[in-house]
Amino acid sequence: MTVSASRPSGHHQLPLLPTHPSSRSASVCHFRCGDACAQPVPNPSDNAYFGDVLRASLSRRTVLAGGAAAVVLGSVTREVVQAPAAAAAHGGSLRFDAIDPVPRTVDAVTVPEGFAWNTIIKWGDPILPGAPEFDFDGQTPAAQAGQFGYNNDFTALLRLHGRNHALLICNHEYTNDNLMFRGWTSFSAETVDQIKIAMNAHGMSVVEVSRRGSRGTWRHHERSRYNRRITASTPFAITGPAAGSPLLRTSADPAGRRSLGTINNCSGGVTPWGTILSGEENFNQYFTVPGPPSDPKVATGYARYGIAGTGREWYRADPRFSTANEPNEPHRLGWIVEIDPFDPTSTPRKHTGLGRMKHEGANISIAPDGRVAAYTGDDERFEYLYKFVSRRTFRRGGSRWARKHNMRLLEEGDLYVARFNGTPSPEYDGDGEWLPLTRDGESAVPGMTIDEVLVWTRLAADAVGATKMDRPEDVEPSPFTGKVYAACTNNTSRTPSQVDAANPRAANKDGHVIEISETGGDATSTTFSWKILIVCGDPNDPSTYYAGFDKSQVSPVSCPDNVAFDRAGNLWIATDGQPESLGYDDALLAVPVRGPERGRTRQFLAVPTGAETCGPVVGYDDRTALVAVQHPGDVSGASPAAPASVFPYDGTGQPRPSVIQIRRADGGAFLA
Ligand code: FEO
Ligand code: CA
Ligand code: CA
Ligand code: CA
Repeated sequence: MTVSASRPSGHHQLPLLPTHPSSRSASVCHFRCGDACAQPVPNPSDNAYFGDVLRASLSRRTVLAGGAAAVVLGSVTREVVQAPAAAAAHGGSLRFDAIDPVPRTVDAVTVPEGFAWNTIIKWGDPILPGAPEFDFDGQTPAAQAGQFGYNNDFTALLRLHGRNHALLICNHEYTNDNLMFRGWTSFSAETVDQIKIAMNAHGMSVVEVSRRGSRGTWRHHERSRYNRRITASTPFAITGPAAGSPLLRTSADPAGRRSLGTINNCSGGVTPWGTILSGEENFNQYFTVPGPPSDPKVATGYARYGIAGTGREWYRADPRFSTANEPNEPHRLGWIVEIDPFDPTSTPRKHTGLGRMKHEGANISIAPDGRVAAYTGDDERFEYLYKFVSRRTFRRGGSRWARKHNMRLLEEGDLYVARFNGTPSPEYDGDGEWLPLTRDGESAVPGMTIDEVLVWTRLAADAVGATKMDRPEDVEPSPFTGKVYAACTNNTSRTPSQVDAANPRAANKDGHVIEISETGGDATSTTFSWKILIVCGDPNDPSTYYAGFDKSQVSPVSCPDNVAFDRAGNLWIATDGQPESLGYDDALLAVPVRGPERGRTRQFLAVPTGAETCGPVVGYDDRTALVAVQHPGDVSGASPAAPASVFPYDGTGQPRPSVIQIRRADGGAFLA
């Protein structure tokens, strides 16, 4: 059921659809983030907005040496597919005709002329021995534990043997219980079995996939020794300075070093040593809070992270999700986790050194001295952008010994938070500093211990005066230039007096993308310069900016979320929220970041009604593009009795989050 749009991108008019807040949003918010936007902004700190910064200091601009690039992913373990540095190009290599944006009522996957799409794997497909076929009306917790989870988000494809056998790794961020269970009315009316199904539909999946030749379509293997489900109950080891902290201890884990499960995993990243990083995002909504914690510091932490007892009632299936039973259990979520997809028996880890927040994901850059930097965003209004720098250095070569060493790089290092300086201007640029939160295993924040800095990282960042951003989502360094791209998805709560150079619009409903250049091209640098690549939105809106490119020639983009690079260094942007902001189905777009076409967005895909575009995978080879279609049919009022989408059109009559492949119909190359 491929729908091909016909015309290349040109000057776009907004569709004849209302652009008032969509009826979809209430549903999306309720299940994904526990209605975060309906709650007060959880950052009451009084650290500086731009106006204060301007008074305090003028920018100390540092000019980057042109072309001085970090050695990013330049030497990788043999399993990890990354673009060779020699392939660096200027981005004029996009070989598809852009599609027009698609009105949000269209329940179809829309791809360019001459392209086709197919489903690789769907929610409920069995991937472990003994797991039954998907049965919408017969789901059980045990069945779901052996099946592909719900709401696929971050997606990676890692080469296994040759280029036609790979591992597909997905996050399963959250569940739309109202679309999974007939007659669903509220979390409090759910049965315990339904809660357990939801718990097992969260987490991550690893699935072997293969294709018959590079022109073939990827298929998943129901049986593979690599196939794995990680759920809300899978044991994790806790690493880093806060491991063993009293703040992490519970009755089930008095040592504070082993926690259960990973939830609300949003985006992520592939490390140069062939593991997966995944961000635990809106973890707060899973906890019931019958009363305030007795420790006032813990109570302050709950408030700063929105742990208020609204939402899901998982404690009825597992008592640790009530803070009356385990006041420290919320401290064991909100981390970056690392899994080794090549070893299905390995124990995944939570790295406390990268701080605790509503992590979107994390992505790695290797500095000239071999230390690695992990960039990570805290996705909430007025939260911050962070960088972790390892103490030890990356070892090259694909030996087991080197990989074992590299797998521990995120266990020790320093954590920083970004302050952006600059004067709001049409150039959208400035400089900035990485402010230390930890140093050599000690706290760098007066009045806070190292444990407190890492467990209540938001409070530590407040204290040092970091810049409050418009919801930092995916943050990814270019494998070609080392420049770092941060998607700030939107923030309609920003007032005119809160506008600053790096967050240049009040009521920012469309978001923007920032490009950071580390001083000297060194990912360990504590200073940087920055530009805004795109101020998103309808190109006819004068507040938008597409890197200075002719806006009559771009595809509209709004609410950037996941980002990825292809092998030519083009940035691909997946959106989350265009139905509300522009009236269009969410999209995948490509944009050159270098050369004469810098800023020229081109829309490659639109997802079906109610869905968000996730993944994407565009860097595997010159013809593999994968997208995770998340929450299809998530429109207010939709239900199994009245679905708003039946994607992936498999005959079940229900929407099923799925990973799809988009390919040229003849199987040929279209990526760099
Ligand atoms: Fe789950 Fe930040 O999007
Ligand atoms: Ca996201
Ligand atoms: Ca990414
Ligand atoms: Ca998002």
